[in-house]
Amino acid sequence: MEYNREYFAGKTAVVTGAASGIGLALVEELLQCNAAKVVMADINPNNLEQHEKRLREQYGDRVKGILCNVTGEEAVQSLISDAVSFFKGRLDLLINNAGAGFAGYFADMTNADWKAAFDLNFYSALYGMRAALPIMGKQGGGQIINIISGIAFMPMAQQSRYAATKAALNALSIALRAEYWDANIRISSATPGTTVTAIWGGLEPPKSAQTPQQSASRILNGVANNDRVIFGDDNDVRGATESYDIQKQEVIDAYLLHVARERRKGVTAI
Ligand SMILES: NC(=O)c1ccc[n+]([C@@H]2O[C@H](COP(=O)([O-])OP(=O)(O)OC[C@H]3O[C@@H](n4cnc5c(N)ncnc54)[C@H](O)[C@@H]3O)[C@@H](O)[C@H]2O)c1
Repeated sequence: MEYNREYFAGKTAVVTGAASGIGLALVEELLQCNAAKVVMADINPNNLEQHEKRLREQYGDRVKGILCNVTGEEAVQSLISDAVSFFKGRLDLLINNAGAGFAGYFADMTNADWKAAFDLNFYSALYGMRAALPIMGKQGGGQIINIISGIAFMPMAQQSRYAATKAALNALSIALRAEYWDANIRISSATPGTTVTAIWGGLEPPKSAQTPQQSASRILNGVANNDRVIFGDDNDVRGATESYDIQKQEVIDAYLLHVARERRKGVTAI
């Protein structure tokens, strides 16, 4: 998609979960938009090394990989501090993208399972913001994007952990957007839209799923526009618009019930 690529020229950015899928596509897109420097953070050493090497061949020292498990606050603090050293002081953009799907039946889940999901899909972004906000405050502004999911607005059966963590992250983003607006720090959440990546595991993504590049450019379009919630595809726009519309509640209930029943039968492509 066409968007304001100039907006990113000369900026510095940290992207988490950047060694695969949407995070990797965001890194590549930012480099193509002439971002000054981009840090790619990930927990997967092999993917990180492979893609950092490939991108350094193309973009030289404008890109750096940092191995980081974003579920630990100290690790995230070090990540942001190492990134700021690499950027020589200025952090313009933080994209909290690392996350996972966490599917399964509620009845099978322990508190440890819930904690693991919130650690990765919620606390990692909270830690990222806590580390970045003082730096952005001191430098007079910045921008933070938290990657959520359409499921935050259309919570589905067998995805209770995923839905709850992403809805919580969306709420945190929107609350902080107003809290930090006057400090010239722009905070948005972004759904990537249904996108073909490793997150699907063995499951077949729907035929309508887009590429990570399509998702990344639609997200960056929303970043350049400073949208409050960025929607990665049209289905997510529809889901968010309709899910709390009282006139549509019977239709939405019927749809979510259909999904639940199909999933119980083992049908995944709905
Ligand atoms: N693909 C989709 O259809 C879709 C839809 C909605 C939302 N999302 C969200 O988009 C984001 C990116 O997902 P993706 O689809 O590109 O999946 P992906 O599995 O391709 O990428 C996720 C990346 O996060 C990294 N990661 C996992 N745990 C980590 C940790 N503890 N510390 C650091 N990095 C870690 C993984 O190594 C991987 O490189 C996630 O937040 C996901 O929930 C994806």
